[in-house]
Amino acid sequence: MALNPEAAKQSLGVYAAGQVQAGTALGIGSGTTVDAFIDALGARFRRERFSLACVAASESSAARARAVGLPVQPPEAVEHLDLAVDGADQVNPAGVLIKGGGAALVRERLVMSQARQALILVDSRKLRAQFEAVTVPVAVLPFAWPATLARIKQWCPEAELRRDHGQPVVTDDGLYLVDAPVERLSNPAARHAWLKMLPGVVDTGIFAGFSVDVRVSDGLTVWRMASDQP
Ligand code: A5P
Repeated sequence: MALNPEAAKQSLGVYAAGQVQAGTALGIGSGTTVDAFIDALGARFRRERFSLACVAASESSAARARAVGLPVQPPEAVEHLDLAVDGADQVNPAGVLIKGGGAALVRERLVMSQARQALILVDSRKLRAQFEAVTVPVAVLPFAWPATLARIKQWCPEAELRRDHGQPVVTDDGLYLVDAPVERLSNPAARHAWLKMLPGVVDTGIFAGFSVDVRVSDGLTVWRMASDQP
């Protein structure tokens, strides 16, 4: 079945918006799939006006959520979340996620860690039996980036500072990003732990150990990753 990425985002957004119950403390992730979720939830919220508290994992998600009428609190205002809804760049069968393509990985992990449940929305081309030809984003302290990059290169010689028009990309948290492209990421949890031990590294885009409900779409239907495609 051919994948329609835009239709997949829309159907996942509408699906996830329907899963948000009244009274939910909601964590909103980041990315274009989450944008579709925000829009669908905003439309539902304007129609139904149920009780809801939201925190967002990026400034752009917060701004979009506010623009569609959702009640967004500052991150420090809500300690425990019922549900986090987010996207991912790649997902393996164990539910390990590679995130950070959109530079929001630090707050995305914080939001996911605060939530009782995580609903992850991906199109079907993001499912991987193995993480192969994958780029691992790593958030680093700006003033320490050259030495930190050199340490990361001991594992991934092709690692580079992420730039936009020649300038380092700066995250919402004031960090730089190193992108580490590897042919195979065979033990994601161990690699995350190794990277986190490097001086200058703040976080990585490897999300292992979360209990995630991954929903997948090809643009026609939405299904749970663990089940067979309908
Ligand atoms: C943001 O830093 C990322 O983790 C996004 O969640 C991820 O890149 C998925 O983005 P899209 O939904 O735009 O593909």
